[in-house]
Amino acid sequence: MLKKKTRYVVAVVGATGAVGNEMIKTLGQRNFPVETLRLFASERSEGKTLEFNDKKISVEALKDTSFKGIDIALFSAGAERSKIWAPVAAKSGCVVVDNSSQWRMDPEVPLVVPEVNPHDLKKHKGIIANPNCSTIQMVVVLKPIHDAAKIKRVVVTTFQAVSGTGQKAINELMQQTADLLNFKEIQCNVYPYQIAFNVLPHIDKFLENGYTKEEMKMVNETRKIMGDNSIRLTATTVRVPVFRGHSESLNIETEKKLSPNEVRAILSKAPGIIVYDVPEKNIYPVPLNVAGKDDTYVGRIREDESIENGINMWIVADNLRKGAALNAVQIAEKLIETA
Ligand SMILES: NC(=O)c1ccc[n+]([C@@H]2O[C@H](COP(=O)([O-])OP(=O)(O)OC[C@H]3O[C@@H](n4cnc5c(N)ncnc54)[C@H](OP(=O)(O)O)[C@@H]3O)[C@@H](O)[C@H]2O)c1
Repeated sequence: MLKKKTRYVVAVVGATGAVGNEMIKTLGQRNFPVETLRLFASERSEGKTLEFNDKKISVEALKDTSFKGIDIALFSAGAERSKIWAPVAAKSGCVVVDNSSQWRMDPEVPLVVPEVNPHDLKKHKGIIANPNCSTIQMVVVLKPIHDAAKIKRVVVTTFQAVSGTGQKAINELMQQTADLLNFKEIQCNVYPYQIAFNVLPHIDKFLENGYTKEEMKMVNETRKIMGDNSIRLTATTVRVPVFRGHSESLNIETEKKLSPNEVRAILSKAPGIIVYDVPEKNIYPVPLNVAGKDDTYVGRIREDESIENGINMWIVADNLRKGAALNAVQIAEKLIETA
């Protein structure tokens, strides 16, 4: 359990990655009370330096003794590393906020979005899971609607940026775009097809039921975070040639009827949401404008005229911030608030 202090020893595991980099930036921008920041990555990065609050910090490789004296560790180095190292860290007395999929559905591990289920943090036993990026931005929006009108069913289609796959995918989209515009042959290393100027209906592994793991993460994680197994949800997750920012088309069926204006009013008052919805003036969220922002932006709110109580909307959030680093830092902020 975390002891109350004025400043904390914080670690970022996976510090050299797309999410790790954003975690370092977010800790600085939000003035998190850091006494010392320790940075970890693979042996390949040992000795490399990264900046935090204008100071250079050396990256370390992980060892059994690495977590001694660390209060909070933000993990973002993939599920395999979290499986091995999160229990080691928790055993050393450090509270882990894990960004990978490893512990999310473990009944002993709370899966938390601070705007939705901060109360679940109390149940932690040393590890807290950060949900999947596409789930986080969706539940921030679903929660106030569920409270107001009880959600029966959600149909979601995502349009996910390459940064959701990590640094190698960012490089692949850049390289393929440059090569194509220079009439060179392209290489496909990260995705099975060319991602530049293309759209792939495939995120993570295919499962026996024909869905991808990403799609089933959205179904299962939503029920766990919202604490309601009765919500029916079906997802199609799609990778698009965007660097940063996931977009989602949501179709929501509720028990009680809500008009688009009522939905706008409910969402305008909810934490972490900006309603950005004046279609006649071309005002709706797009990933290029939402990149680097903390809130989830909602637009194109309209009635689904094909059913009794249905609403359609378009939501966009920065996958590296609210979808990953920011949500993890917000969890750490709640932890120190209640320590
Ligand atoms: N990108 C997103 O939007 C997003 C959103 C939510 C969750 N996540 C999750 O966050 C995690 C990281 O994602 P990412 O996008 O930041 O990936 P990434 O850019 O590929 O970075 C991976 C990080 O893990 C480190 N790492 C790899 N092997 C390691 C080892 N053996 N020991 C210690 N560190 C090791 C890498 O260090 P080196 O540089 O030394 O190789 C790097 O710092 C994944 O679990 C991912 O599913 C990502």
